[in-house]
Amino acid sequence: MIKINLEFTAKDAEKAVKRKDVIIVIDVLRCTSTIITALANGAKGIIPVKTVEEARKIHQQYPYTVLAGERKGIKPRGFYFGNSPLEFHPTEVDGKNIILTTTNGTKTLCNSKGAKFVFIGAFLNINAVTDTALKSAKRENCGLSLVLSGKQGKFSLEDYLCAGAMLERFTLHKIDASDAAFASLLTFQQVYDSLINSIFQGHHAQYLKSIGLEEDVRFCCKQNKYKLVPYLKGEIITPFKKVR
Ligand code: MLT
Repeated sequence: MIKINLEFTAKDAEKAVKRKDVIIVIDVLRCTSTIITALANGAKGIIPVKTVEEARKIHQQYPYTVLAGERKGIKPRGFYFGNSPLEFHPTEVDGKNIILTTTNGTKTLCNSKGAKFVFIGAFLNINAVTDTALKSAKRENCGLSLVLSGKQGKFSLEDYLCAGAMLERFTLHKIDASDAAFASLLTFQQVYDSLINSIFQGHHAQYLKSIGLEEDVRFCCKQNKYKLVPYLKGEIITPFKKVR
């Protein structure tokens, strides 16, 4: 029976790596939703980095790449893309390698390096990412950790609800969920009929709305829009199937 664990912040990713779990990184608003969308729309690969300075440095070394990301939700000076999934339109991203730095999401991804499998999940790809990660954990005979990116070391409502949606899918199989993981399922089921409204009550959704990004929140709440499963191998994120 596969053990399903839940971790709450970027820093906690290290615990999942130590356990040798397969990892799904979640940052619904908006990092992992953006990664899924960019790759689904034809981006070649995404390189997650922790800081704006690091992103600029890598871009100087590899000028054919493009810079993307945010600080306080806003595109840093000189960057080509911000962190809005709606910006990553097929005509804009096709064939591009993108260097991405965000406040919490790319930190969680970087802290997950070292795990055998690091998948990228959000509401946009719940079924595909849960099925793929569970298969990998079964094959590797190890546990599976959902690692929420949170907000500056704190709990984040939308990531927790997304974990609950993933738990619902996992329970189609024989799993052993930790109490924290099981509680996310109970919460998700409780708000299922008013999911978007519940997410809009969270701090980050309210902040994004206050800076004119309400549409991003609505987009990130769409469930199973994509079948694509991004996967971090070494330094780069690509669609899982392409690298197998
Ligand atoms: C993050 O990594 O903290 C986010 O993706 C922030 C955002 O751009 O909404």
